[in-house]
Amino acid sequence: KTIYILNGPNLNLLGKRQPEIYGHDTLDDVERNCAAVAAEFGLSIRLLQSNWEGQIIDWIHEARENAAGIVINPAAFTHTSVAILDALNTFDGPVVEVHISQVHKREAFRHHSYVSQRADAVMAGFGIDGYALATRHLGGLLAG
Ligand code: DQA
Repeated sequence: KTIYILNGPNLNLLGKRQPEIYGHDTLDDVERNCAAVAAEFGLSIRLLQSNWEGQIIDWIHEARENAAGIVINPAAFTHTSVAILDALNTFDGPVVEVHISQVHKREAFRHHSYVSQRADAVMAGFGIDGYALATRHLGGLLAG
């Protein structure tokens, strides 16, 4: 079984982008950590990132066939995208929403998430550990 780990806009710059908020680790570090956790449960991961909303929607559709669970950091689309929410509502497996930063401590426009209407669990403020913790949670649900 595979867990899709989907990342939205600007997260390709993770490690370089506002490190005081998002830290110095990169998406490659996230991929390595999550792959190691998934392997403990006999699962694999597919980590993807796009700056394009439609691409993320296409990957969620692909996940309907190929993924047992989804970890998603929709980045800024969290706060704007009904289309990503609708796509996630077509997916039957567990979904965990991840934010590297503690969004509720930040600007008011980051406090609302469309994706939270679908997410079964939400991580915020754990830095990149949030991805590995989310993967561990899905591992417990999906293994066996
Ligand atoms: C983010 C929080 C969002 O508000 C922001 O637009 C991001 C990253 C996070 O991981 O903390 O790009 O999703």
